[in-house]
Amino acid sequence: MKIAVRYYSKGGNTEKLADAIAEAVGVEAETVDRPLDERTDIVFLGSAVYANGIDESVKRFLRKNAGYIGTLYNFSTAAVAPSTYKQVKKVAEENDIAMSEKEYHCKGSFLFLNPGRPNAGDLTRAAAFAKIVCQNAD
Ligand SMILES: Cc1cc2nc3c(=O)[nH]c(=O)nc-3n(C[C@H](O)[C@H](O)[C@H](O)COP(=O)(O)O)c2cc1C
Repeated sequence: MKIAVRYYSKGGNTEKLADAIAEAVGVEAETVDRPLDERTDIVFLGSAVYANGIDESVKRFLRKNAGYIGTLYNFSTAAVAPSTYKQVKKVAEENDIAMSEKEYHCKGSFLFLNPGRPNAGDLTRAAAFAKIVCQNAD
């Protein structure tokens, strides 16, 4: 089973989740600038909320790699907003990408909000989420 982790992170919060998820499933986390090079059964895609939206590079990754994505799993951070699931799902649907309803989201630090997040507990939960996804897909 082929697994990949891709993320976009301006400030490093989502990157921390990406690294925890990647380590849990035994791959390297890469940014969305790195295309998939073959059909990939499980793609964990990390994003964050900026001005109520997701970065354009996340959308571009989905458009360019649609044909290689088996099932997409969302993970995200935000200061206050809910997860990026709906915004990612919209682009996934436009590009005929199957997306799981299972996702992982936690708060990310921003200015004086949520200091230290994601914290050790957030990273442990992200890793557990990823392991369960991959175990159930075996
Ligand atoms: C330019 C910018 C805009 C943001 N806009 C929002 C927002 O609209 N809603 C929100 O809940 N958080 C917002 N945030 C907070 C980020 O979602 C939060 O810090 C997130 O964890 C950032 O992830 P990153 O460190 O991986 O980039 C914003 C952060 C930045 C830098």
